[in-house]
Amino acid sequence: MKKSLPVMAATLFVIALFSFPVSAETNKGLVFPKDWESYKHIGSLIITDKNHALHGVHHFYMNKKGLKTFEKGGKYPDGTVIVDSVYEIKEDGGILNEGKRAFFPVMKKNSRMTDTGGWEWYAFSPDGKLLDKDPKRDCLSCHESVKDSDYVFSKPLK
Ligand code: HEC
Repeated sequence: MKKSLPVMAATLFVIALFSFPVSAETNKGLVFPKDWESYKHIGSLIITDKNHALHGVHHFYMNKKGLKTFEKGGKYPDGTVIVDSVYEIKEDGGILNEGKRAFFPVMKKNSRMTDTGGWEWYAFSPDGKLLDKDPKRDCLSCHESVKDSDYVFSKPLK
């Protein structure tokens, strides 16, 4: 997705406005990555179709561990974490912007999880509570289609 500088600046401003600390929650070894805001922003996506399960504004963030693979390709190292920060869409006169935070889908690389593509799949509520999702039905159903890039859709921007 190509972004102009003003849009980027506006986006960053809005992220700053809507950012707030998120409480930690554990499940199967995952602590909500509270430090996700220090990760690298690797891309964004807006799904305007209201009937789509992932309707909203998405910003993707990756921790340091995975960045080399993100640039060069291949299998991600264990410990790679990717956070999708999802917001509702606020529309005003043709301008789409982030509304309220909706939820956080999270992928964590764990090569022992062979059943789910070598990743752990989670989703957290805006306040960091674990949501009830089935990795195969709710996540892999789509991410399976990008098995060749280790189940990761995002690519470096050109
Ligand atoms: C309807 C299809 C679909 C489903 C279901 C889905 N995703 Fe995704 N997801 C996508 C697409 C498409 C992108 C990236 C779009 C882009 O390239 O900007 C993405 C991106 C992501 C990313 C950023 C890394 C990447 O692959 O680019 C994470 C993290 C993520 N999804 C986690 C999840 C989790 C966790 C679930 C289950 C709770 C889930 N997703 C369910 C389609 C889906």
